[in-house]
Amino acid sequence: MSAPLRGTRERSGTPAPTSPVTTGAATAAASLCAALAVLLLALASSGGLDPSALGDPGELVRYGLPIARTVHDLAAALTVGGFVLATTVLPHPSAAWTRAVRVAAVAAGGWAVSALLVLVLTAMDVIGAAPGAAGFGAQFAQFAQSIDLGRALLVTTVLAAVVATVGAAVTSANGAAAGAVLSIVALLPLSLSGHASGSASHETAVSSLAMHLIGVTVWVGGLAALLLVLPLTGRPAAAGERRVDLVAITSRYSRIALWAFAAVALSGVINAAVRLGSVSALTSSYGVLVVLKVVALVALGGLGAWHRRRTLPALATSRRAFGRIAAAELVLMSAAMGLGVALSRSPTPVPDDDPASSRAEDLLGEPLPPPVTVGRWFTEVSPDLLWICIAGLALVGYLLGVARLRRRGDAWPVGRTIWWVLGCLALFFVTSGGAAAYGRTSFSTHMLQHMLLAMVVPPMLVLGAPVTLAMRTLKPRRDGSRGAREWMLTVVHSRYLAVLGHPVVAAVLFGGSLIVFYYSPLFELALRTHVGHELMMVHFLGTGFLFASVLIGVDPGAHRPAYPMRLILLLATMAFHAFFGVALMQGTSLLAPDWFATLDPTANLLADQQRGGDFAWGMGEVPTLVLVLGVAIGWSRSDTRENRRADRAAERDGGRELEAYNAMLSQLAQRDAPPGARRASAGTPSPADTLSPADTRAPTDSRAPTDSLAPTDSVGEAWTRPPADG
Ligand code: HEM
Repeated sequence: MSAPLRGTRERSGTPAPTSPVTTGAATAAASLCAALAVLLLALASSGGLDPSALGDPGELVRYGLPIARTVHDLAAALTVGGFVLATTVLPHPSAAWTRAVRVAAVAAGGWAVSALLVLVLTAMDVIGAAPGAAGFGAQFAQFAQSIDLGRALLVTTVLAAVVATVGAAVTSANGAAAGAVLSIVALLPLSLSGHASGSASHETAVSSLAMHLIGVTVWVGGLAALLLVLPLTGRPAAAGERRVDLVAITSRYSRIALWAFAAVALSGVINAAVRLGSVSALTSSYGVLVVLKVVALVALGGLGAWHRRRTLPALATSRRAFGRIAAAELVLMSAAMGLGVALSRSPTPVPDDDPASSRAEDLLGEPLPPPVTVGRWFTEVSPDLLWICIAGLALVGYLLGVARLRRRGDAWPVGRTIWWVLGCLALFFVTSGGAAAYGRTSFSTHMLQHMLLAMVVPPMLVLGAPVTLAMRTLKPRRDGSRGAREWMLTVVHSRYLAVLGHPVVAAVLFGGSLIVFYYSPLFELALRTHVGHELMMVHFLGTGFLFASVLIGVDPGAHRPAYPMRLILLLATMAFHAFFGVALMQGTSLLAPDWFATLDPTANLLADQQRGGDFAWGMGEVPTLVLVLGVAIGWSRSDTRENRRADRAAERDGGRELEAYNAMLSQLAQRDAPPGARRASAGTPSPADTLSPADTRAPTDSRAPTDSLAPTDSVGEAWTRPPADG
């Protein structure tokens, strides 16, 4: 806030505001107290502090673990929030940006220490012994290395320590983004803890808790970091720095907060539904805590609306109201986090492991679908929260972009929209429909899902030209901060994408992954673990998208060779694909036999695997045909465009280009002619050595993108690389 404002208040006799440091410290202290007080009250009421039926790990664990976990979650929130604010909201370089990153690094240090404490206390809880007891060391090592929960907590501890170390040295926007990504990745193993570690509805529990934790940490941590940089906004920028406009950064955070609010609500309700099992369970002690959380969320939603209607519009004149409401909001959020930890330590109406579930259901983490038929393959569902969100946001975001272009009176090829919508619908089906329901129950149905994900969905999405649409619809930032548009450009122009988007690299990743994935422990890992399964989906969709983008894409990023080269690349890769299919059809060594035998002890695994080979071979052909068609259409279009360009140039300059070309040809002819002929024809090129306008219609160069989006388009400046202060 500029000096004059402060002056006016003093003149008006209002007491000078307390120093920002005291306000910040007071808010932090109040938040921590609220979180711990609500935690202990909730645990006391839900029986979460009582010794469990399996034995009493002692008060240190019963009280220490949830307290350490609450401090852990608060520190994680501030880490993620600080980096996310620096990455997407604050101008760089600026004092506010530096403070956000430093706060995040320090918080990451606190996170690492509290994570280590959570790891040791959880080990004591599981082992039922304290450090110093005989054999505790060996048991602790075994817990941390070979038990899912122990491994997850260890990974988070190590990653938090890495974030703290890296964070302390961050000075660039790319560095802050790396900190944000790394700290969010460090959160993910936590989604395997709490009740989600049980087998009942394991996939949904893990995905929803992961989404919940990310939503909560971005929302709560972002607000905390915003309050901490508030005093550094609205004042003249120091030399070499950017001015930080409070109105601009709060409205950006407010948009992020709205998405986080929606994510927390959706994932919280889904996770609670898995744990409660029925509405009547809301009267249970666990259910009451859930209701309290819903109340907290609604109250937070109300405060958010108050901000949007009252405090944000008044920010240009007074920041006090905003500061106060935001501080109160932070205390309430921390209390809700305390409730969250209490929930994770309280007994649930639905037991974590369903005693009635079969071995197959324990493995799958959900009920086994009925035996597969063609009809069921199209009608069964296995909702995957993560992919429902990705495909849903991709679809809605794209249609909103097209609507914005239309409102602006700009055209957007309807074909692209149709391809994108089809691609998103196909992605829904492959990740949450019948293809997903049977994706892990037999090798052949797994291969069907894989082929659709890698070969059918990507070409459709690529033809939707999403990056081009984003560049044409997203507004550029002018204050040195980076929004979605700036980060997309950073990625599109990055060295990594230049390497990954190289035709040979994209082809090797696309084809080679098959061999590496199926003939290594990766396949079994993707079948047995939720994280492995999701990473497999991301990998095959990503490599399929890159490969299709090299062949028929219009967006910037991938390096596109000449059309003949693309056809050769496609045919070579498809040949490799067919070879892989044939190898499976002929092979006799079984892949992941224990897994498939447990799911269906009566199945003829070899026959089923060979059928999978049929699918790999057969299903490769159809998309290949579509890609060949795509390349051929692109080729002829680029030639037509090239011809039109040459014609326009000829009309503009009377065929100067052709003349220059002919002159070069005759010089060549002159040079190569035998000495006698040379003297005879000096100065007059013969018709045999030169080209007429008709000759130039043949294809000359086929590198131009398949769609008229060369930089001459109205958003030409869109492709320019963001400022190099990365
Ligand atoms: C609709 C409202 C909400 C519902 C239904 C809900 C439900 C849940 C559920 C079921 C869990 C998992 C607990 C377990 O492991 O069993 C959870 C965890 C958590 N929730 Fe919420 N939640 C809601 C809102 C919030 C809000 C507003 C916050 C904070 C701003 C929050 C913070 C957390 C945290 C930090 C955890 C993880 C605790 C841990 O394991 O460390 N939740 N929530």
